[in-house]
Amino acid sequence: MARTRTQVAIVGAGPAGLLLGQLLHRAGIDATILERRSAEYVLGRIRAGVLEQGTVDVLEQAGVAARLHAEGLVHEGVEIGFEGRRHRIALKSLVGKAVTVYGQTEMTRDLMEARAACGARTVYEAGDVALHDWAGSHPRVTFRHGGESHEIDCDFIAGCDGYHGVSRASVPLERRQEFSREYPFGWLGVLADVPPPWSELIYANSARGFALASLRSPTRVRCYVQCSLQDKVEQWSDARFWDEFRRRMGEEVADLVTLAPSIEKSIAPLRSYVVEPLRFGRLFLAGDAAHIVPPTGAKGLNLAVSDVYYLHEALRDHYREGTERPLDEYSPRCLRRIWKAERFSWWMTRQLHLFPGDAFALRMQRTELEYLFDSHAAQFSMAENYVGLPFDEAARA
Ligand code: APR
Ligand code: PHB
Repeated sequence: MARTRTQVAIVGAGPAGLLLGQLLHRAGIDATILERRSAEYVLGRIRAGVLEQGTVDVLEQAGVAARLHAEGLVHEGVEIGFEGRRHRIALKSLVGKAVTVYGQTEMTRDLMEARAACGARTVYEAGDVALHDWAGSHPRVTFRHGGESHEIDCDFIAGCDGYHGVSRASVPLERRQEFSREYPFGWLGVLADVPPPWSELIYANSARGFALASLRSPTRVRCYVQCSLQDKVEQWSDARFWDEFRRRMGEEVADLVTLAPSIEKSIAPLRSYVVEPLRFGRLFLAGDAAHIVPPTGAKGLNLAVSDVYYLHEALRDHYREGTERPLDEYSPRCLRRIWKAERFSWWMTRQLHLFPGDAFALRMQRTELEYLFDSHAAQFSMAENYVGLPFDEAARA
């Protein structure tokens, strides 16, 4: 058994784990990252990419924002389509902030490069990762790599291994409380190399169901339609997808849409999920390991970023002060922000999707949207949530 030591063992090299590693490195705290997959596999995953201003600020602080500023697309507004009409929510003029469209894959690539550049330790294709003694004072992580068994002694373990990871699963059910909501539909997403004919995202509520017009770059679109959870990707030819997308977007947008061949097509279920608390002794959960939001509010990545920002502050202040106080604060501090993002994502999902068989809900939906389009206060509320609610200050000693 090869034995090594680090201050923080991070499980998972997705955006949460890599960003935590980068922030800790800049705070002079040693961390080793263990990732089950290869670096190529991690980079190959197609994920969203709407960054809140707070996320951009953290990436700047982490020293990984250069390409984001060079290639990211700043959007000062977002549109809601309803009954063939588009209503713009003027984010910048309402709340003074914008969002930046920059793919999660690109952010992950920037973080990987920064980690390689600083020579910090990352073990890809680490198998059988297991967590030990996180409830005690000498946590350890064991794993297999290159046919050998390894053990890392550490002060803390950061579970950044996503919803299906080993970290949360290591905590006995009776020590955690779970809150969840499954939605009776999925999102069928298509990626296509065609210039986006829309300059801002369009979230459409139509009688045929939800649709979203998004983008990755000036030459690549990302589009979604609400679909049944029973649907299979094979049942959706590109022609059927674009036909349905155009019907839901309404004539004005439909006339602009090119029936481009898809380079990626996949169906994702929609779920709201939160585990409480986020700290178990010397084990801390962050990102998708602790919570899932439906993608309608574009909050998944941004919540992972605020979690690891709070966790890096908690660990930094713990090592500085030598007290438990900053560590005790991590979970309640995260949960305050997590539940607000869960609420907004749930609200967006309820306003924009077709929930079959509930006439009263349909009337409520219509009325909520009409109120949104007519009320400055309602637009302000949507805007401040969409651009990202402010991070709350870490309580000082
Ligand atoms: N051992 C080691 N690594 C693991 C294990 C394990 N047992 N289980 C999972 N992992 C790795 C996964 O392979 C993945 O690379 O943990 C990483 C978790 O990354 P993400 O799922 O991307 O989660 P997170 O970093 O929290 O990022 C959240 O991802 O899914 C989107 O919408 C979500 O945008 C949000 C972001
Ligand atoms: C995306 O570009 O993939 C995207 C954008 C906004 C969302 C969800 C997904 O709310």
